[in-house]
Amino acid sequence: MSFSIVAGGFWGDEGKGKILSYLALADNPAIIARAGVGPNAGHTIEFEGIVYKLRLIPSGFINPKIRLLIGAGVLVNPQVFLSELETTKTKDRVGVDFQSGIIEPSHIEIDSTDAHLKNKIGSTGSGCGPANMDRALRKLKLAREIPELEPYLTDVSIEIDDALKAGKNIIAEGSQAILLSLFHGSYPYVTSKDVSAAAICSDLGVGPTKVTDVIVVLKSFVTRVGTGELPGELSKEETEKRGWTEYGSVTGRLRRAAPFNYDLARKAVRLNGATQIALTKLDILYPDTAKANDIRQIRGEAKEFISRIEEETNVKVSMIGTGPCAKDIIDLRENI
Ligand code: IMP
Ligand code: MG
Repeated sequence: MSFSIVAGGFWGDEGKGKILSYLALADNPAIIARAGVGPNAGHTIEFEGIVYKLRLIPSGFINPKIRLLIGAGVLVNPQVFLSELETTKTKDRVGVDFQSGIIEPSHIEIDSTDAHLKNKIGSTGSGCGPANMDRALRKLKLAREIPELEPYLTDVSIEIDDALKAGKNIIAEGSQAILLSLFHGSYPYVTSKDVSAAAICSDLGVGPTKVTDVIVVLKSFVTRVGTGELPGELSKEETEKRGWTEYGSVTGRLRRAAPFNYDLARKAVRLNGATQIALTKLDILYPDTAKANDIRQIRGEAKEFISRIEEETNVKVSMIGTGPCAKDIIDLRENI
């Protein structure tokens, strides 16, 4: 029996989708349950030559045996959800909690036109902030009121509890990341709720005593979309020169970039109670590590970089991403 949480360590876009898709294939969990804010997220999964950018359906869908759930704390845009059901062909194994909140066109309208949200905060415009506001006001519609969602409705907390009692393995998929937390992040340049490992438990209706592992995902450099601080931010030209240029998967915006930051890594580890670190995109910093699957292929500066992360955070790096595909990874979990 295990309940592992995968949470973002910087400002999102660390490569959670990639780590989750690998874990789905390698560990065969019974359930992957999506937590986090809602469809403001974009999780990128590359498998068998196809790239998927998912906003709601859990990233582990590539393993057809896994039950895919969306927790009560997650906002659902029914249109986005139904279209992802088609692209992922997962109708027969997806469940949405009865109490998930619903994003309506009016929420998207406010999020994408309001000067404070759109210009100052740099919201993704997906309607999440205004929907969470309506939830706090207790006037937001819930999934149980939407006929199109009827076939998928379930109680995620009960499903997870039953699976744990039956000795099964479960992975919780966080979205966004700790520095975007409404409580612990760089306020006001944050998302509309907490997104820590504790919040991930709450989103799914799982008590903290059930958690076996918290895997914090850190990218080998730091990126941020939208506004707000980014220590050590590089110019567009320097970002390009280093090959760190990325675009937001939901909004298409150019991501701002900065070198890896050990202070932020320590903060991410502390606020999430990390038991493991998954480090992604090592191949972007050290091209000779591309597609490596064995730690013996990691030498020199790349190896020193990993050791320093472990020394500064006091947490082991348990997985190392070496390319975009789910299988481009070095899995060190046996050693920890
Ligand atoms: P909102 O959550 O759409 O209101 O956006 C608030 C801030 O969080 C903006 O800076 C967004 O760019 C950022 N944000 C929200 N979700 C994500 C994500 O999944 N990845 C990266 N940034 C995000
Ligand atoms: Mg993303």
